[in-house]
Amino acid sequence: MRIIEATDYQDMSKIAADYIIEKVNQFPKIKLGLATGGTPMGIYSNLIADHQKNGTSYRGVMTFNLDEYVGLSGDNPNSYRYYMNHNLFNHIDIQMNNTFVPRGTIDDVLKECESYEELLTKHKGIDLQILGIGANGHIGFNEPGTSFQSQTHVVELAPSTRQANARFFNRLEEVPTQAITMGIATIMKSREILLLVSGEQKKDALKTLLTGNIDERFPASVLKNHPYVTIIADKAAIAGLKVHS
Ligand code: F6R
Repeated sequence: MRIIEATDYQDMSKIAADYIIEKVNQFPKIKLGLATGGTPMGIYSNLIADHQKNGTSYRGVMTFNLDEYVGLSGDNPNSYRYYMNHNLFNHIDIQMNNTFVPRGTIDDVLKECESYEELLTKHKGIDLQILGIGANGHIGFNEPGTSFQSQTHVVELAPSTRQANARFFNRLEEVPTQAITMGIATIMKSREILLLVSGEQKKDALKTLLTGNIDERFPASVLKNHPYVTIIADKAAIAGLKVHS
């Protein structure tokens, strides 16, 4: 795993966005894997600013999101479909029918998981996957203990994850208890992965990732088995760790 040290959140977001923009220009039909949450917000605003200023086009790009809450429809401001539309898709020239987020309100969520996996296979997988990391090491919504063999599936969210995500809702009780997530094996099939880590609250997770064993109790550790991972972390997350860029 290659590590790039950024000075702060803005710098991390800019480095990641510039990398993605370069790839989109080089490969106009690139398939991107996207994440939500606080971490990638800065990337998306940089992509929008670049699109407006330099005209980088997303007409041929396809996107696949990592996850979605079960029970929230795309017009619910807390759904990840809503997040993506409002924080990125509505502001660039991507074709909406080329953007995929698991559907959290579908009656048969298990079937939706299978269909999502089939969709990824049909489109020959993700070229570049963007990931954030949970303080407990989760990637996507794959909580500690998830099998490294897992494919897209329904998960019960860990209390710590619901607590961490409650900041986006009015009350903790409103945070859904389940989500659909790409599995760990699904994520590992991406040809390249960019992992973003920012802030003091992610320091311990980054340390465990860099110094710990590969273990299902810390999902992100699986990334050490992937041939092409770049971590972009800011100083607050790296603090005190010895890393070689
Ligand atoms: C989001 C996702 C999650 C987040 C993680 C970190 O689609 O899959 O794994 O990346 O929970 O969240 P933030 O960035 O809000 O700290």
